[in-house]
Amino acid sequence: MLSGQLLKTLTATSSNPKYRQLAALTLPVYKSYCTSSIFHKKIREACDNYSPIGVFALLKDGNRLKSVLDEINQGVIGNYLHNHFISGLNAYAHQNFSFCTGFLEGDVPLEAICRSFIQFCSANKMYLDPAKTLDSFERHNQLSDEAVKYELKKITPKVELNLLGFGLDTGYYEQELARYLVASHKAEKVNIFGFDPYANPNRAIRYLSVDELNSGQWTFDLIVARWVLHHVAMNYRWDDFVNCINRCNPGAEVLIVEHGFLAEASLFDRRVSALFNAVFDIVANIGLRPDYFFKGSALGEKFFIHYLEPKDFSKIASHVSVKVGLNIYDVGPVFPNQSICKMTKK
Ligand SMILES: C[S@@+](CC[C@H](N)C(=O)[O-])C[C@H]1O[C@@H](n2cnc3c(N)ncnc32)[C@H](O)[C@@H]1O
Repeated sequence: MLSGQLLKTLTATSSNPKYRQLAALTLPVYKSYCTSSIFHKKIREACDNYSPIGVFALLKDGNRLKSVLDEINQGVIGNYLHNHFISGLNAYAHQNFSFCTGFLEGDVPLEAICRSFIQFCSANKMYLDPAKTLDSFERHNQLSDEAVKYELKKITPKVELNLLGFGLDTGYYEQELARYLVASHKAEKVNIFGFDPYANPNRAIRYLSVDELNSGQWTFDLIVARWVLHHVAMNYRWDDFVNCINRCNPGAEVLIVEHGFLAEASLFDRRVSALFNAVFDIVANIGLRPDYFFKGSALGEKFFIHYLEPKDFSKIASHVSVKVGLNIYDVGPVFPNQSICKMTKK
């Protein structure tokens, strides 16, 4: 018989959707996140002392940092991005004692350390090859794709299905999902719409403005927001997304892929996670979208970082004008962790 904690870990992180679904069904919503606790445990064990100074010492010790992050990663993030992330974090720590310890002590906001890290990358002319950076996400994509497609398998077939990508950028992921929906006989035709004021537009996709969205001319059967919400500036974060959900047809699904949640983490654990996640996010996005950072403002409406908490989803669900069911579960890997939040319009 598996212990409750081990069962939670196995089910929630399993690559087998059946077990992940079991996790989603058997665990209360806010208890189903556990891979993030493995991350904190490993970091804690690698520090002589789990405190701002102790974590900072780890960041500065290149060998120790690489050894613990290699152990956590286990080949999930391709070596190319993984190694750039470690060397960027380590080099930054060497020159930024007060930002790192100030953030870990709670005196420096996340936004300030993100700006400082972006400036550091710019001053040091950090460059990553976009194709190699994208390839480094193969296993991450596989984990979240399996979960997203598992959810899509459950939708009721329609002749025509309207899919809205929120923060879809070029929408290559939404196009892949559209092909999957047709191939799995969930729809004969999928119309792809997009809402993303900062996208590199794709001519095959109909991008909607706020006015067009509000006109009510289009309604949606599926909304996908993959790795978007934590990048939306706080002033814009909820209204447009809530507006999109309000345009859903009955039975529509909203599938959100976000960073994993930290149900049982201490405040200090949360800061440690935010620091590692933000540095990783910035290095990855420098690889994928260099023009976001080094032309124009470093951090702003186009690229922002503020991680969500499970309560944010309850807040969205309570602000939409339609009734929605809510289910959140973890899909791994340990770092950077991913959660799926599914809302179903009743
Ligand atoms: C990390 S990218 C994710 C792109 C895509 N969803 C994917 O999975 O590859 C974040 C996206 O969020 C978009 N974004 C930023 N602010 C937004 C906003 N206020 N409303 C909608 N999308 C926004 C950006 O333009 C960018 O395309």
